[in-house]
Amino acid sequence: MNLIATAHGAAFSAANLSFGYGAGPEIFQGLSFRTEPGEFVALLGPSGCGKTTILNLLSGFLAPKRGAVLINGRPVSPETAELGYVFQSPHLFPWLSVLENVRFGLRMAGRLDGRAQIAHARRYLALVGLEHLSDELPHRLSGGQRQRVSIARSLALEPGLLLMDEPFSALDAITRIELNEELLRLWSALGQTILFITHDIDEAIFLADRVIVLGLPPSGIYREVAIDLPRPRDRPHTRSLPRFAEYGEMLMDHIAAVMKAAPSSGRIAQRNFA
Ligand SMILES: Nc1ncnc2c1ncn2[C@@H]1O[C@H](COP(=O)(O)OP(=O)(O)OP(=O)(O)O)[C@@H](O)[C@H]1O
Ligand SMILES: [Mg+2]
Repeated sequence: MNLIATAHGAAFSAANLSFGYGAGPEIFQGLSFRTEPGEFVALLGPSGCGKTTILNLLSGFLAPKRGAVLINGRPVSPETAELGYVFQSPHLFPWLSVLENVRFGLRMAGRLDGRAQIAHARRYLALVGLEHLSDELPHRLSGGQRQRVSIARSLALEPGLLLMDEPFSALDAITRIELNEELLRLWSALGQTILFITHDIDEAIFLADRVIVLGLPPSGIYREVAIDLPRPRDRPHTRSLPRFAEYGEMLMDHIAAVMKAAPSSGRIAQRNFA
């Protein structure tokens, strides 16, 4: 890969965060965790436990009632340059070409001159295997291709911390597995810190150095599991390792324990982990 990578994994910490929407109940009370620079952390938890809320707190889109979020030692805000965000659905501008979508953030940030922006955007499109679609409009792309464009757009800003909110959950299983592998290749080349939200246990194990299992509001972190599987990881090999299945069992047990505490525990709640 021909990289211009300047991104370095950002150091990140959340200390003693408490938050609730308006006058509603607290979703978190005293939530703390940190990541090492370049670490890949998956946050796993049932629907409604506060995963998206956490990402919005960590990115500064929401302000905690108490506590602080620091990136490289400085308080976070949505303008923090080290921060990138990939949403569950790609949110591309339908009237802009694929290339211009990737270039958009660079233009907004006033980074590089026009020609250099184009070259930079092309390089990141090439990284996600879509250079040949540079001139297409988003509606002519498949769901997986659109999500790749969205990832290229975030990566083009070379964030030190990439927040990803269930980015592949709307995709079919095969595309999802391909994109998991692609994300790991990009991450090992670029070295960002990644916080990846998912409710898919296998995806969390396959990707992460560490999986954080969230409890129900307002309990915050229920358990953390370090995933000691060799890298590079690839689907047939990694997923066939006995340790992979053991981690799956362990995480399933943790999640079952979380769900047991839910007022509506039982079959319906468990389906969130299908
Ligand atoms: N804007 C809002 N105003 C009030 N309550 C909200 C708002 N957004 C989310 N909530 C509530 O906060 C809790 C956590 O929501 P959040 O979206 O963070 O969950 P999640 O874990 O991301 O769920 P999912 O897996 O379904 O995406 C839920 O009970 C939800 O109803
Ligand atoms: Mg969510």
